[in-house]
Amino acid sequence: MHQSFIAGIGMYVPKNVVTNNDLLKYMETSDEWIQERTGIQERRYAHRTEETTTTMAVEAAKIAIERAGITPQDIDFIVFATLSPDYYFPGCGVLLQRALKMKEIGALDIRNQCSGFVYALSVADQFIKSGMYKNILVVGSEKHSFGLDFSTRGRNVSVIFGDGAGAIVLQASQDSKRGILSTHLHSDGESAEILAMYNPGTHANHWTTDPVAAFDDAEIGQMFMSHQMIDTAQNFPNMDGPAVFKKAVVKFPEVILEALQANNLSPADLQLLIPHQANLRIAQFVQQRLKLRDDQVYNNIQKYGNTTAASVPIALCEAWEMGKIKEGDLVCLAAFGSGFTWASALLKW
Ligand code: UT7
Repeated sequence: MHQSFIAGIGMYVPKNVVTNNDLLKYMETSDEWIQERTGIQERRYAHRTEETTTTMAVEAAKIAIERAGITPQDIDFIVFATLSPDYYFPGCGVLLQRALKMKEIGALDIRNQCSGFVYALSVADQFIKSGMYKNILVVGSEKHSFGLDFSTRGRNVSVIFGDGAGAIVLQASQDSKRGILSTHLHSDGESAEILAMYNPGTHANHWTTDPVAAFDDAEIGQMFMSHQMIDTAQNFPNMDGPAVFKKAVVKFPEVILEALQANNLSPADLQLLIPHQANLRIAQFVQQRLKLRDDQVYNNIQKYGNTTAASVPIALCEAWEMGKIKEGDLVCLAAFGSGFTWASALLKW
């Protein structure tokens, strides 16, 4: 059986740095509140018209492909994770395929929010292990700044998120001693609505306790995105932060331990844990629970905020560029988020 390993990695963050104090012009918040509750000091926002989720992915992908020592024409398949696609459809995978002038390869979009990249990695790993593909481009990219409620009403969500992209080339190898050891995917849709963006969607409030009254013919076609939805801010993400936090601090350690146990390893064996950058307090709680030293966990939410599907590859890339990951190191990637979905991947670098 083939083994898959990360042959190249890249990241891209927009130049525009937005500090906590910069947000004061839109909403009632404070640098102190944001830092104390989340650890975030600043984030990046993409250029309004010149940068999209896909253009950022292109920049990250170019670096990953170059570092893998291959060209875009060598890529056999794309797996693209995002919750902020350029278009509602088609997905970003095909836009990336077009932008990089790749062959007519398959392109798959993954909609698993914060755990999107780890899910994408798992999918790519299976394709390589089965022998179907040799070089897969796996990407996580988000342009959150385009879809947040920047009024005080939306501050619990909007201060957290930032824009950016990360990409890897996952490559087939015969070396069984390195690469992806295992991946572990989970979901529990019971609380799907507590971290969600409902619209545009086809639900017509079916899942909530507030059913839409029967609508007349004049409203046909407006249910997907109506004026009323926009007037009442139903086109923005919605989050019960404390409920998400409580679940995250249970599921993160659980899925990390699951990955370690599946490989007869323990937290002490880890050189580096890269948790999805949801909240520094969550990462610190996980570190404490697993009794990991500071040098065993990498966080960069302070600089970039929560970049959802991009956070794990950005943190992994930055940690690698800083020399924190060396050949043979045991690295765990873990994520938790909307759905809920959560996932981990254990790899030998
Ligand atoms: O990556 C996807 C997964 N997402 C997560 O993992 C997020 C998990 N949750 C969290 O990170 C935290 O719950 C938040 C950072 C979102 C919020 O922190 P919290 O400590 O749970 O605060 P809270 O929501 O309980 O709100 C406490 C207070 C409220 O005011 P009152 O009701 O106590 O008067 C909020 O209205 O803080 C207020 N608040 C703010 N104040 C200033 C909420 N957002 C802000 C803000 N600035 N940005």
